[in-house]
Amino acid sequence: MKTIHALAAGALLVTAVGQAQAAQIEVLHWWTSGGEAKAANLLKEKLEAKGHTWKDFAVAGGAGDSAMTVLKSRAISGNPPAVAQIKGPLIQEWGEMGFLGNIDKAAEADGWDDFLPQEIAAYDKVDGHYAAVPVNIHRINWIWANPEVLKASGVEEVPQTWDAFFEAADKIREAGYIPLAHGGQPWQDATVFEVVMMGIGGGDFYRKAFVELDPEALTSDTMIESLETFKKLRGTMDDNIAGRDWNIATSMVINGKAAMQIMGDWAKGEFTAAGMTPGEDYECVAPPMTEHMFSYNTDSLAMFDVDDAGQQQAQLDLASLVLSPDFQASFNQAKGSIPVRLDVPLDDFDACAKASREAFDVAMDEGGLVPSLAHGMAVSDSQQGAVFDVITNFFNDPDMTAETAAERLVSAVRAAE
Ligand code: BGC
Repeated sequence: MKTIHALAAGALLVTAVGQAQAAQIEVLHWWTSGGEAKAANLLKEKLEAKGHTWKDFAVAGGAGDSAMTVLKSRAISGNPPAVAQIKGPLIQEWGEMGFLGNIDKAAEADGWDDFLPQEIAAYDKVDGHYAAVPVNIHRINWIWANPEVLKASGVEEVPQTWDAFFEAADKIREAGYIPLAHGGQPWQDATVFEVVMMGIGGGDFYRKAFVELDPEALTSDTMIESLETFKKLRGTMDDNIAGRDWNIATSMVINGKAAMQIMGDWAKGEFTAAGMTPGEDYECVAPPMTEHMFSYNTDSLAMFDVDDAGQQQAQLDLASLVLSPDFQASFNQAKGSIPVRLDVPLDDFDACAKASREAFDVAMDEGGLVPSLAHGMAVSDSQQGAVFDVITNFFNDPDMTAETAAERLVSAVRAAE
């Protein structure tokens, strides 16, 4: 009885404190697929448990292209949300335009600089001050495979070289399945291309080509080989790729229509949401030559500059709970990513998450850790857009040669500077 009274009094106290500072904050994000929505909901619930109200501003569309367009129009009309999912250098761009607030208070109170990887924390700071909180680390270079389809096609394992991949694709096709599930959207094309290119070229080459946008690298033999291999992959896909969402492609692997998909590990969120276990119901394997590499993509929640003290408090509370060890564990298990806090143990995570962390550590030591261009971590927004256009046009134009595409890459990124 005593305990119940004590609990009740405690609950009242929490509510009272909560109400004093409680506020509604609108949160823009693009986590709308089955797995993504489950993960986002965990954040909403935690925020609401602190007494605040989460006003959901979800804009569907993989990789956030539509969400970013909507964010721009809301900001231009003087009405941005309090919080928005933004990534990489784009956070700086918003910060430099004067749109973002300062959440150093939360960072100092919780000691963020002690546990966040420096390279990743740098994306979230504007002029040395935290304006955003990082949520996770996604790995882009993954193949998601259906073992039953592989077996039924006489393919023993997920291929480790591109030659083996194309041989396997022939067998899978003959057995009546689609070898590679894909959605024909520029960001998905770029995702597949960067994975092919990082394996063929390695970490240093990737950085020269896709971080420095070095013209020599962009027109090199390695680039030509990467472009040609990428284009050949088109023949391993079905005829209906145009405009298909990434999670629909994932569902083709889940339900055994297709054998594999090349996609970042938010795809794992779909397998998890479907109750599937890696190593049994599906496989996660690094694409050819990328086993010790890691193309990273970190989601962040950027805090817009708000006047209301309650909303400022809600932003700080949100930031602080995003980096709490509990939330890092539960959210990332649902999302498919690994915690951005490297001190959070992965004991309860699945085999793919453990493999991801291992690859992260090896890649960091051996130079194979690279920022994802396809996911906004490597170059400016306009340069990314320029690369997307060339890659997608090349992929869809049977007559465009790899040499022409390489030349176009150079002029397109130059024009976008
Ligand atoms: C984001 C992920 C998201 C994926 C698909 C990526 O750019 O980082 O959080 O799940 O796009 O929308």
